[in-house]
Amino acid sequence: MAKTSSMPASRKKILSKELIKGVKKAVRFSYAPYSKISVTAGIYCASGKMYTGVNIENSSYSLTICAERTALFKAISEGERKFLLLLVYSPQIDFIIPCGACLQVLNEFASDLMVVSMNKNEELKFYPIKTLITKPFKIPKKKS
Ligand code: THU
Repeated sequence: MAKTSSMPASRKKILSKELIKGVKKAVRFSYAPYSKISVTAGIYCASGKMYTGVNIENSSYSLTICAERTALFKAISEGERKFLLLLVYSPQIDFIIPCGACLQVLNEFASDLMVVSMNKNEELKFYPIKTLITKPFKIPKKKS
C-alpha cells in the first residue's frame, strides 16, 4: 500500500473536506436493495470539478453498476477527460477497494489515478491504480 507521505502535496490538497463530504452525502442515493451494500465514489477531475456516483443494482443482478463507474461515466459524459483522484466509500465495508471491472474501466482513462479508500471513521488509505491493476487488458497496436 502506498503511504500518504508518498502522495504529492497537490493531490493531498484536492482530497478536501468537500470531496469527503460529497461522497458521504451521496451514499443515501445508492440503490442496493439486494446486497444492502451501499457504495459511493467521488472522482476529482483536472478541471477542478468533482462528480459523485453510487452503485445501482438490478433484479437481474449482473446489470448492476458499481459506484466507481457511475461517477466516472457521469464525468465523462460532461466532457471530462483527465482524472486525478477517486475516493470510494461504503458504510458496510471497511476500506472498500474497487472491483476488477471498475479498475479496468478507470485505467482506460486514468492510468495514473490515485485511488483513495475511506472507512466510516473517515480514515483514508491511498493506492495508486497501478498497484491495484498491474496488467490491464489492452488491444495490441497493429504493426505498420
Ligand atoms: N460495488 C461497488 O459499487 N463498487 C465496488 O467496487 C464493488 C462492489 C457494489 C456492487 C453491488 O451493488 C454491491 O457493491 C455488492 O457487490
